[in-house]
Amino acid sequence: MEFSPELSVNQPVLINSKFKVELVMKREDLIHPVISGNKFRKLKYNLEEAKKQNLNTILTFGGAYSNHIAAVAAAGKIYGLKTIGVIRGEELKDKIMSNPTLRFAHQSGMQFEFVSREMYRKKNSREVLSTLKSNFGEVYVIPEGGTNSLAVQGCEDILTDKDKHFDYICCPVGTGGTISGVINCSKPSQQVLGFPALKGSFLQEDISKFASKENWKLISDYHFGGYAKINTNLISFINQFKKEQNIPLDPIYTGKMMYGIFDLIENGYFPAGAKILAIHTGGLQGIEGMNLKLKEKGLPLLD
Ligand SMILES: Cc1ncc(COP(=O)(O)O)c(C=O)c1O
Repeated sequence: MEFSPELSVNQPVLINSKFKVELVMKREDLIHPVISGNKFRKLKYNLEEAKKQNLNTILTFGGAYSNHIAAVAAAGKIYGLKTIGVIRGEELKDKIMSNPTLRFAHQSGMQFEFVSREMYRKKNSREVLSTLKSNFGEVYVIPEGGTNSLAVQGCEDILTDKDKHFDYICCPVGTGGTISGVINCSKPSQQVLGFPALKGSFLQEDISKFASKENWKLISDYHFGGYAKINTNLISFINQFKKEQNIPLDPIYTGKMMYGIFDLIENGYFPAGAKILAIHTGGLQGIEGMNLKLKEKGLPLLD
């Protein structure tokens, strides 16, 4: 599988000319089908560090549909590393083959440790980490969502000199690692807008820990009720966007961000002449799992 940051290109997004702004998507999703977008950026220096420390097992954490779990499993297979996924929810033990993300990770060689929600909540505690280390031996631990300082460093490679003329850089936000890297590599004159995919005020603080500038702001109106919550408006926006722009969006992160950007454009948020760059952070592997949930609920599916 071809796998390179050079595959990321800037693709113009067609918008009605009555809105006098320019919108471009940075197609980080094209880097790799699974280790795509921010996953590639977040893992790059962490995998190098694991190698430096002579550790050939990666242990990480995630939920049933986690893009990060899928990406770590795929990277492990490519680089010949053993991978362990600590998964939230003991009941998933019997559902590996019916869950597309877990099935993929399993088929890529990942070993699972299913834990209760209560234990999962304590995953960063010394107690849980030392239990995991005593069960699995010397492992390189990557936190949930892949965010740590090496991940932020990787995300600092997202913007290049070619992007310096943009006035606004838009980025989806989960744990805040990706946007922190984007802020650090932005120009002070650029404004970085983050679109959280979940509710909660903790993000502001988390981003401030890693971000070296203050040219950023969170736009918290487009989480659609919380993490992995979607509605028929969002589904039809994503399907129409794919048809018109030839760009697939994931329903959890980039779909919500693009919906938000279109809404802001229509409501005159950006001044005339504004040049906007939106980062496509990947996550397309999650579409299959989301479609299973939509089918159960009798809702329209993502194309
Ligand atoms: C596809 C995708 N986009 C964006 C994000 C948000 O990134 P972060 O957690 O660094 O804020 C994630 C989660 O890691 C993701 O999987």
